[in-house]
Amino acid sequence: MSDRVVLAYSGGLDTSVAIPYLAEHMGAEVIAVAVDVGQGGETGYAGNEMEMIRKRALACGAVESEVIDARDEFATDFCFPAIRANALYMDRYPLLSSLSRPLIVKHLVAAASRHGGTVVSHGCTGKGNDQVRFEVGIGALAPHLKVVAPARDFAWTRDKAIAYAETKGLPIETSKRSPYSIDQNVWGRAVETGFLEDIWNGPIEDVYAYTADPSIPRDADEVVITFDGGVPVALDGETVTPYEAIVALNRRAGAQGVGRIDIVEDRLVGIKSREVYEAPGAIALITAHQELENVTVERDQARFKKSVEQRWGELVYDGLWFSPLKHSLDAFIADTQRHVSGEIRMTLHGGRATVTGRRSDSSLYDFSLATYDEGDLFDQSLAKGFVQLWGLPSRLASARDARLGAN
Ligand code: ARG
Repeated sequence: MSDRVVLAYSGGLDTSVAIPYLAEHMGAEVIAVAVDVGQGGETGYAGNEMEMIRKRALACGAVESEVIDARDEFATDFCFPAIRANALYMDRYPLLSSLSRPLIVKHLVAAASRHGGTVVSHGCTGKGNDQVRFEVGIGALAPHLKVVAPARDFAWTRDKAIAYAETKGLPIETSKRSPYSIDQNVWGRAVETGFLEDIWNGPIEDVYAYTADPSIPRDADEVVITFDGGVPVALDGETVTPYEAIVALNRRAGAQGVGRIDIVEDRLVGIKSREVYEAPGAIALITAHQELENVTVERDQARFKKSVEQRWGELVYDGLWFSPLKHSLDAFIADTQRHVSGEIRMTLHGGRATVTGRRSDSSLYDFSLATYDEGDLFDQSLAKGFVQLWGLPSRLASARDARLGAN
């Protein structure tokens, strides 16, 4: 019996070419699985486009083709944990591609068990992080599955892939293909390659699809985001699902040019690469969440959480979503979010999401301690002794240095 290969299918050139290629070179039956994580653009509603992708796989020779609507699952189980972790790799990248890969892996593994697949395939090259995320994830969830990555393992070039698509008469518009490598989902959009590989070249307006030019004058937008336990549950008082929250903020913050990121990034494989991202909803939500934490999370817990956040982001970036350390950090982060409930008011304008107001029943902000006006309950006489004892170790060290003549 021939192998059944479950292919992570995007509808693009590389994964379309992979279908006849795997059939021909491995004598395999290919099952195409496209996972909808909101790659349909800034509104996140892919609908028809995903159906086109499903049919295209069949036209390329897949024996079965499925589209899995994982938009809500992606928002709830992957994007929301990233909000709770304020997850920004290298302090800036909201991990949009990194977050989607473990979810795609889950669905590939499930599809393999449904369809009797023994091999899983993806279209990644050998230079990126995504190959690592796919294969380390599969190894964690289904170690018995083999992996083949035709673009990497058979050393395709773009020209070879196009030539192969032409000889096979595949329904792919290669000429209209953009010069950029793009990966997008509801959490944001990643653009790389083309003229951006010269890191002195500034991005042109053409690169962007989720955000409007922030330098164009327009009226500001104001939004109130309600959080419960560290995640958004309502916008301007209207209850929203996780997916709706992100879609709505992509639209509103995107219209104000919020969330454009241009960065040289450290890949796991050791390369530094230039990436342009746009993630308007993600940046607005993380900014709001960080400020609500400032109001509701105790000081030492908050300081410690910073280092946990950084490590969490690195693990997710490095393809270790299903690792024991990530699991343990999740438990810590979940515990810190118990009181992160309340409302944040933000102005979206000129490429920035700026917090202008916060209120919370679980606030640790005490007006009567903070105020410099009438109603001050802070006992300043306590401060004098506190400051002396706080500085005692420094004074001792400095006296010792003076005694020894050290400086
Ligand atoms: N550099 C980012 C990451 O590793 C984005 C990758 C985008 N993937 C792509 N195939 N264009 O998470």
